Amino acid sequence: EKAGYDHFMLKEIYEQPKAYRDTMGARIDDAGKRIVLDEVKMTAQQIQDIHQIHIVACGTAYHAGLVGKSVIESLARIPVEVEVASEYRYRNPIITPNTLVIVVSQSGETADTLAALKEAKRCGARVLAITNVVGSSVSREADDVIVTWAGPEIAVASTKAYTSQLIAFYLLGLYFAQTLGMQEAEVIEETIQALRQLPEQVESILADAEKIKVYAEQISKHDNLFFIGRGLDYAVAQEGSLKLKEISYIHSEAYAAGELKHGTLALIEEGIPVIALATQEELLEKTVSNIKEVAARGAYVMGVGSEGNEEIAKAVDELFTIPRTLPLLTPALSVVPLQLLSYYASLARGNDVDKPRNLAKSVTVE
Ligand code: M6R
Repeated sequence: EKAGYDHFMLKEIYEQPKAYRDTMGARIDDAGKRIVLDEVKMTAQQIQDIHQIHIVACGTAYHAGLVGKSVIESLARIPVEVEVASEYRYRNPIITPNTLVIVVSQSGETADTLAALKEAKRCGARVLAITNVVGSSVSREADDVIVTWAGPEIAVASTKAYTSQLIAFYLLGLYFAQTLGMQEAEVIEETIQALRQLPEQVESILADAEKIKVYAEQISKHDNLFFIGRGLDYAVAQEGSLKLKEISYIHSEAYAAGELKHGTLALIEEGIPVIALATQEELLEKTVSNIKEVAARGAYVMGVGSEGNEEIAKAVDELFTIPRTLPLLTPALSVVPLQLLSYYASLARGNDVDKPRNLAKSVTVE
C-alpha cells in the first residue's frame, strides 16, 4: 500500500503533482481562460456582498489559510483574516451576514474547526469548506464545499493535503476576482497558465531530493534552528517549521525576517542552521540583508530561492533553487523542499516518520 516507498509521507510527497492536477481538474475551462467552480453555489450578488472573509483552521490547514489570505486579498481585493479555530471559536469574533467564513480541514473532522464552523453559522455567516474528505462532518455542515482531490492522506504529517489546499485557494481567489471583475482577463489567464505548470515544476524539485537529504542529515544533529522569510515566504516558513518539529522533534521557530532584530537575533550563534526562504522578487533585497545579519553572527544558512537569482546565491552557504513561477504561486513549490527536509531529518534521527509521538492524524478532541 506504500507503493514501493519506505513511508506514507514520502509517497504522499511524491503524489503531489497528481494531487495538483486532480484538484485543478475540470475547474479550469478547456481554453484555460476561466475558473469553473460549480460547487460554489453563491450567486454573483452574494459574492459582491461579502465584506470580509475569515479563514479558520488548525495546524497545517491554518498555514494554508495564511497563503489563502494573500491570494484572495491580492486577486479579489476582499479583506481576509486568518485565525486558528481554537482561538476563533471562543473570542466572540465579529461575524455578520456579510462575512464569509472559510474553514479548511483535510479530515473534515477536527473538533475545533467544526465547532468554529457551527459558531459562524449561528452568527449568520455563510460557510465555505475546503476539505479532502467527501461526506466529512465539515463538508456536511458547510454551505459550499470545495473538495481537494489529494486522495487519502495517511501520514500524520500533512503534505499533499496542504498543497492541494493552496491550489483550492488559487482557484477560489481567481474565481472571486473573475466574478467581481477585479482582474483583467489577461491576468487571470496568465495565472491559470502558471498554475498548470506547477505539477511539472514540483516533479523537477522532487528529482533533486538527494540535495535536500544531505542537508537534512546535517541539521538532524542540531537541536535548534530557524526558518525566516517575508510575505508569502513567511507563511511557508511557518509550515516548514511545524513539519520539522512534528516529525524530527528538532525545535525550530519561524520568523518574519524583518522581525529578527527585535529580539530573536540574540539566539543566533555560531553554527546554528537558518533556513531562509527568498522567493519573493519584490522583497528579495530586504530578505538578503536579513540573511547577511544572521550569517554575520555565524549562522549556517540554507536558502530557498528562485532559479537564476544571483543575489541570494552569494549570501547563503547552501542554496536550493525552485523553478520560476508567479510570486503568488511560489508557496506551492517552495514548501516541497521543506517537506523533504523534515522527512529526511526525521529519518536520520530514527524516528517513526509516519506516526510521530503524541500526535493523531485526526484531532477530534478539543
Ligand atoms: O484534518 P485537519 O486539516 O483539520 O487537521 C488539522 C491539523 O491537525 C493538521 O494539519 C496537523 O497540524 C498536521 N498533523 C500537520 O502536519
